[in-house]
Amino acid sequence: MNLPLVLLTLISAASLATGEIRFSEIRSDDRPIIPFDEFGFTHRGQLELNITKLTLTGPTQDPTTLSKVGFFLCTRDAWIHVLQQIEDAEITCALGSDAVKKVFTFDRLPSAAASEFNLLYPESDADQYTLVFANCLPQLKVSMNVRSAMYNLEGGKSNRRDYLSAGKTVLPRVYFIFAVIYVVMGAFWISVLYKKRLTAFTIHFFMLAVVVLKALNLLCEAEDKSYIKRTGSAHGWDVLFYIFSFLKGISLFTLIVLIGTGWSFLKPYLQDKEKKVLMIVIPLQVVANIAQVVIDETGPFGQDWVTWKQVFLLVDVVCCCAVLFPIVWSIKNLREAARTDGKAAVNLMKLTLFRQYYIVVICYIYFTRVVVYALETITSYKYLWTSVVAGELATLAFYVFTGYRFKPEAHNPYFVIDDEEEEAAAEQLKLEDEFEL
Ligand SMILES: *[C@@H]1O[C@H](CO)[C@@H](O)[C@H](O)[C@H]1NC(C)=O
Repeated sequence: MNLPLVLLTLISAASLATGEIRFSEIRSDDRPIIPFDEFGFTHRGQLELNITKLTLTGPTQDPTTLSKVGFFLCTRDAWIHVLQQIEDAEITCALGSDAVKKVFTFDRLPSAAASEFNLLYPESDADQYTLVFANCLPQLKVSMNVRSAMYNLEGGKSNRRDYLSAGKTVLPRVYFIFAVIYVVMGAFWISVLYKKRLTAFTIHFFMLAVVVLKALNLLCEAEDKSYIKRTGSAHGWDVLFYIFSFLKGISLFTLIVLIGTGWSFLKPYLQDKEKKVLMIVIPLQVVANIAQVVIDETGPFGQDWVTWKQVFLLVDVVCCCAVLFPIVWSIKNLREAARTDGKAAVNLMKLTLFRQYYIVVICYIYFTRVVVYALETITSYKYLWTSVVAGELATLAFYVFTGYRFKPEAHNPYFVIDDEEEEAAAEQLKLEDEFEL
């Protein structure tokens, strides 16, 4: 019995609070603990619970024992306390603990034959709670359809419902602001492309596409989140959002690979091994996006959530590593070329650019994967949006850097180099060779 409990603690510690109306079907289930959903309440929170098609099967029992079956709300800290109490044999059932907030126990069912009930539970202690069903009668099997909705009432007299968890309620605005920033960036890039149209390469138009897709993705995410905030369900906006995240994911990784290979500004073709990297990364992005959809739609306590989360992490790590190879190959090629073709200064410039790019890609990956995840885990539920902002700022910085360093050049600086510079560069390359060997 302890394994699922510990697992529950681990999972809930690693997940974001969601906050949508959820429907779950429980069929002949004898699990002692079934977690449903997690939500950050303000001091005007409410939980709405609608149970239908309820049947309890098992040896007939005294109705009062059904007090050991029911729903409760529980914070993470309280849950650790409950586990401790069970360990110490102070209590036998999580519902018996005074650390949890009992929402409804089945001894309060209007009659033994009742098959449905509705419930409105106000929660005025602001905190992040998980809605959990506990069944402490080992032989009892429960079947029911559960509709659970958790929301906060907005301030003022309107009493409007806000279905986004306390730390996420500003997210629609955050996404919208970033979308506007990308639209402005896209417009700026178009003007750059127009001014430098004689020296713009295909890759520069591809960059424009990446920025446009990112802007559309953010717009859909803003609309999706704001729709959920108002109604508790996604209603189609999520589909658009997933489509654009998919296109954005593929185009961004492709762009990083293409820039890494130096395609279109260093050479007009791709080598076979570079094409292979693309052929690995693109299908993996498809898998990553499917995983992302499942993760988002099922919520942290859905079936197979953990599996899909692992699939996503694995695929993501592979993609992130794969995109680094072309950059490393380019750096190697440039070093070789510097030694052989006698244009040390030109090659050194390109080499410096590619090394910089390599480091920036690593920083970007590290920041958006590791640092953002760490922020998400350590910040209080009230400030969950800060990790989103941090991730988006890092992404923005990466886009700006890439655009700035690889912008179309009006006149190529590579060819206006005097002998002195050439000699200094040759000297430096020689030095580097000595250090490396
Ligand atoms: C669910 O329960 C709440 C609280 O009793 C009630 O107001 C609401 O109408 C119910 N919703 C459905 C779909 O039955």
